[in-house]
Amino acid sequence: MKALDTLRSVIRFNRLETDPIERRLARAASVADLRRIAKRRLPGGVFDYIDGGAEDERTLAANQAAFASTTFRPRVLRGIGSIDTTTTVLGSPVACPLVLAPTGFTRIADPDGELAVARAAQRAGLPYTLSTLSTRSIEEVRAVSDGRLWFQVYAWRDRGLVKEMIDRAAASAFEALVLTVDTAVFGRRERDVRRGFSLPPAIGPRTIIDGALHPSWTLAFLRSEPIRFANVVGRDVGDGASPVTLSDYINTQFDPSLSWDDIEWLRSVWDGPIVVKGIQRVDDAVRAAEAGVEAIALSNHGGRQLDGAPATFDLVAPVVDAVAGRAEIICDGGIRRGSDIVKAVAAGATAAMAGRAYLYALGAAGERGVDRLLGWFAADIVRTMSLLGAGSIDAVDRDLIDRSDGPSGPN
Ligand code: GLV
Repeated sequence: MKALDTLRSVIRFNRLETDPIERRLARAASVADLRRIAKRRLPGGVFDYIDGGAEDERTLAANQAAFASTTFRPRVLRGIGSIDTTTTVLGSPVACPLVLAPTGFTRIADPDGELAVARAAQRAGLPYTLSTLSTRSIEEVRAVSDGRLWFQVYAWRDRGLVKEMIDRAAASAFEALVLTVDTAVFGRRERDVRRGFSLPPAIGPRTIIDGALHPSWTLAFLRSEPIRFANVVGRDVGDGASPVTLSDYINTQFDPSLSWDDIEWLRSVWDGPIVVKGIQRVDDAVRAAEAGVEAIALSNHGGRQLDGAPATFDLVAPVVDAVAGRAEIICDGGIRRGSDIVKAVAAGATAAMAGRAYLYALGAAGERGVDRLLGWFAADIVRTMSLLGAGSIDAVDRDLIDRSDGPSGPN
């Protein structure tokens, strides 16, 4: 009898979750879990496009390894009862030091695509950067968000087109321009080469089999409007109405001769802040600051462009020291946990930027997946700061981190 009472007191049956998205999310506790679920749900070509990097994917791995090899030096008994993760980025408040990075073709992960991410970012009190190569337009995204929106620009050969997009971003009250400078030509993503991956995904024998093996994605893809490069629909640069490989598209449409003079040109057509994204050397960071940009996003495009480029996190401390407050520094690449964001801030970054993490979330569970992810990041930051004895973002300093293998040093 006693045994039965004991058993009764410890047995708990969870309510059967009938909502499939909640059921999926209930089994996830980390970005790695969301990645695993996304891998199961998305066709192989789509998952590999999101997940992959250039060539041997060494830089992709190095971005994460740089965080993994950084340890904390926690302070204890500091009498800190509450944690404040708020700070400012480009002079305006954010709930925590994170900006959502631009990602191309977001609708391949989920039909709501950029609209879902923009809404989730606003709910989380964070800026969202819309990619030039987005599958929802500048105006469509503004229509669903009153939050902070940044617009990422590539240098198309047709500068008139760039100017038009910038004017549209201004008219839609986008706050900042993010000029990507690491894409003179397209990186060789060998997973995409092997699969012949195109955008939008072309329907052929291989993709039909892939699609049949991932029926929920395929049904959603077929039911929703066709995926287009929404900012250039109907233009002669090609809007994705017929499938193209991204390398062919970018190598024909983007201008590899982009130079420092173009920052001046950008300034002449845009009144707001400019973020230069894709800086990978200390001297280039100094040059960008001297050119007067408001922020520098240290980035190797998530390891998708030049394989062998340095891990972004390793650049933060030397760049922060050399730039000496003349521009804000954003650390993009390899962010998989809130503790990575804390490490970036400890090294001296104003904020971190993350892209893949939210694409995994979107692929795993749509908009609610992104909400869940951003909630985890926020809670991770609070918990990490609490365990470090840092009550505010200002208190997160370099004394709180240690590199076991040491960064490779300024380059
Ligand atoms: C697009 O910018 C990509 O990295 O695929």
